[in-house]
Amino acid sequence: MTKRFTDKVVLVTGASGGLGKITAEKFAQEGAKVAIHYNGNREKALAAAAEFEEKYGGEYRVYGANISQEEAVTEMVQQIIEDFGTLDILVNNAGISLNGSTWKYKMEDWDKVIGINLTGTFLCTKAALPVMREKKYGRIINLSSVVGIKGAAGTIAYASSKSALIGMMKTVAREVAHNGITVNCVAPGYMNAGVIADVPQKYLEETVIPSIPMKHLGDAEDIANAVAFLASDEAKYITGTLLPVDGGFSM
Ligand SMILES: NC(=O)c1ccc[n+]([C@@H]2O[C@H](COP(=O)([O-])OP(=O)(O)OC[C@H]3O[C@@H](n4cnc5c(N)ncnc54)[C@H](O)[C@@H]3O)[C@@H](O)[C@H]2O)c1
Repeated sequence: MTKRFTDKVVLVTGASGGLGKITAEKFAQEGAKVAIHYNGNREKALAAAAEFEEKYGGEYRVYGANISQEEAVTEMVQQIIEDFGTLDILVNNAGISLNGSTWKYKMEDWDKVIGINLTGTFLCTKAALPVMREKKYGRIINLSSVVGIKGAAGTIAYASSKSALIGMMKTVAREVAHNGITVNCVAPGYMNAGVIADVPQKYLEETVIPSIPMKHLGDAEDIANAVAFLASDEAKYITGTLLPVDGGFSM
């Protein structure tokens, strides 16, 4: 297998499970040094690091941080740069969803979802940019969602945050394009890993799957492949774009 990321240093946020872990594994498989970020469950992150090391060799470290807190993010990114010498690729994957109708939605849920999905992505991007601008190289990939494109009833904060990530991505892409840094979004549809566990099976089978043109959920690897493509040299002239990976759901 061609290894597209030999010696590249990659930070994947929320990489201890779900889509983040599969994405981190893709980079590990292709020779990257991976900073595995987690929030809370250090054991899971350490287990992922050990698993990657056993399968692919290479260098992995785990970093805990609540990405909605600026100080925690700044410290994490500084530590990654100290440990690995640099940071080449940032995958803003961490995200949560707290659902409820708009007219009943609690402020604390709004603050939490926006704090992690939107503020967290902004803070990680802000912290990563100085080293990327200095070296005139960088790749930033944000995990948006089809819900940020089409909306979905009961997801006011989640949909708002995932839409806002598209505007954020385009703004940062414009700011740093001349510094050799590309910034893009991947918008997953309904995938068979991660947050899908919160969606009731009956709703999935009777409502969601019939409305997907391909008539099945996506694999976590489909997201990892899209992220890796946007992080690779093959995508060096692609910036400010949104790549839906959704079996046609957002058409
Ligand atoms: N799985 C899907 O079908 C799907 C669809 C569309 C978009 N997405 C997006 O893909 C990304 C990954 O989703 P997933 O399905 O793997 O979800 P997941 O719940 O398995 O993973 C989310 C990660 O975010 C981390 N996180 C939560 N709060 C945090 C905080 N305060 N600070 C730092 N990290 C925090 C969690 O630790 C976890 O590792 C998310 O941004 C999600 O919105 C997923």
